[in-house]
Amino acid sequence: MVTGAAGFIGSHLVEALVAQSHEVVCVDSFTDYYDPALKEENAAGLDVARLDLAEQDLDLDGIDGVFHLAGQPGVRSFGDVFEEYVRRNLLASRRVFETAAAAGVRVVFASSSSIYGDAERYPTPEDTEPRPISPYGITKLGCEQLAYAYGQEFGLDAVVLRYFTFYGPRQRPDMALTRIVDALARGATFELYGDGLQSRSFTYVADGVSATIAAMQHAPAGAVYNVGGGEEATMRDVIATLEAVSGRSLDVVERPAVAGDVRRTSADAKRIEDDLGWRATTELGEGLRAQWEWASVRVAAP
Ligand code: UGA
Repeated sequence: MVTGAAGFIGSHLVEALVAQSHEVVCVDSFTDYYDPALKEENAAGLDVARLDLAEQDLDLDGIDGVFHLAGQPGVRSFGDVFEEYVRRNLLASRRVFETAAAAGVRVVFASSSSIYGDAERYPTPEDTEPRPISPYGITKLGCEQLAYAYGQEFGLDAVVLRYFTFYGPRQRPDMALTRIVDALARGATFELYGDGLQSRSFTYVADGVSATIAAMQHAPAGAVYNVGGGEEATMRDVIATLEAVSGRSLDVVERPAVAGDVRRTSADAKRIEDDLGWRATTELGEGLRAQWEWASVRVAAP
């Protein structure tokens, strides 16, 4: 079962599982955080059950494992939207974990690099003290700790994956790289928050999906892994690469930095490499080219 199956990462995960001949049960609530028509497009051809996980239990009869990717994303999350983060991350995950513990079904939980905040150490290993600086990161950390508590008290078999800024085709429209390729394709402006020297361990979605499947199949119960690409890059670096790839120049409008954004992420991915033999293999230039091609074809389509 994949929750959040109509989302950016969820829809790629479902495709990869189907390609490996797994039977997949898809769940999504099609929230309107961004245009649900994009989710319909992501999920074209899939049979997706519409469930609000904060209120409805999953039916795990016949399910071997749950990839729990559904949630409220986006690190720029201060203000009244906090209730959405609590509901769609904490309340929903509590119900998923409780149901999975009772059914004896493994859960792979999609957490986030944002639980580290502005980390003590770079590259950041998993045992670094978590100190998120966004309400989003706080709810993701809360979910991780709920998974741990359900593991201790009710035997939940959970694996936590901390995803580092996944990118590639279908990336969410609130995320930077999608906004950049879209602006390049349309000749529109891109609003850059802060000085552009903030950096990320950008992770190509297909690499992240293979880590996620490997975790379901081979990770020990209770494991926590960073899932991060090898190459850290600043926003200015990725803008320059996408300009070169597209042969166009980006019209950048500078805006102030936004609360909740970390200065830097850099994944130490040694643990997942040692345990599961996984490491990111897609070079940033190659992945950015794939995202540009996806965006330019969409914009050119009638
Ligand atoms: C991303 C995802 O949005 C989170 O859901 C995920 O949990 C997180 O990665 C993670 O790794 O934990 P983020 O790294 O902030 O969060 O990714 P983007 O939204 O693509 O932002 C990257 C950088 O671009 C940020 O510094 C942001 O300030 C900047 N940005 C974003 C802009 O300059 N302009 C924009 O329009 C959007």
